[in-house]
Amino acid sequence: MGPIDRAARWWSEEVVPRVVEKTCGLRAIAPLRDRVAEGLYGEVLEIGFGSGLNVPHLPPSVERLLAIDPSGVGRRMAATRLAASPVPVDFVGLDGEHIPLEDASVDSALCTFTLCTIPGANRALREVRRVLKPDGQLHFLEHGLSPEASVAKWQHRLTPVQRRVAGGCHFDRAIDRLITDSGFEIVELRNHSLGRPRTPSYLYEGIARVDPAAVPESTFGAEAGAQTPSRDRWR
Ligand SMILES: C[S@@+](CC[C@H](N)C(=O)[O-])C[C@H]1O[C@@H](n2cnc3c(N)ncnc32)[C@H](O)[C@@H]1O
Repeated sequence: MGPIDRAARWWSEEVVPRVVEKTCGLRAIAPLRDRVAEGLYGEVLEIGFGSGLNVPHLPPSVERLLAIDPSGVGRRMAATRLAASPVPVDFVGLDGEHIPLEDASVDSALCTFTLCTIPGANRALREVRRVLKPDGQLHFLEHGLSPEASVAKWQHRLTPVQRRVAGGCHFDRAIDRLITDSGFEIVELRNHSLGRPRTPSYLYEGIARVDPAAVPESTFGAEAGAQTPSRDRWR
């Protein structure tokens, strides 16, 4: 690996999680985290756990959080939140595109500011669909493509740069379509903007349930026999 690749890796592994902690941890976002976590219950899968910014917002109906994220730095930054959390958190995997859990094994799922970043977001969503129980719901709070042409134009223009400097984040993913194309039916959706700057501020917030009519595609569970993972208990 050359020096430029090494610097790029250092940036995305060491710097980006710290920037995310600050930007996604803004006070204005806290009430939205409360709202998206409302109604989660039982064993909850979170893809893109990051530094655990959702942990303090989990309602008492959550019995356990099963966390997936590739970032070791994020996990270390979560230590204080985990120590203060009444909800046990098990780290079950690194990649939302390959979730090492059995089919129909979790009660609810959560993702916040993550579908912008996962390279194969559709594949990750299909994995979430696979591991959710038939009556389970996915709660989401994501930023994405604005319906305003003038904003969308800049979102498309700036996404190549954003991907490079922000760990793969896209400004211009149509989150509702990503979700419905992956075998979910959206039952609640609020779109609103956090204001300026407008490029990262258009939000998709809501709840989706498994669409039984959608044809599930073969994903990790089927391929790998969905072994139950050995869980790395944080708390
Ligand atoms: C912008 S951060 C959001 C973190 C957190 N969800 C929040 O609300 O603050 C995006 C997160 O997605 C994670 N991520 C990237 N690729 C991923 C993948 N393939 N599977 C799961 N998470 C991934 C990153 O490590 C990062 O923690």
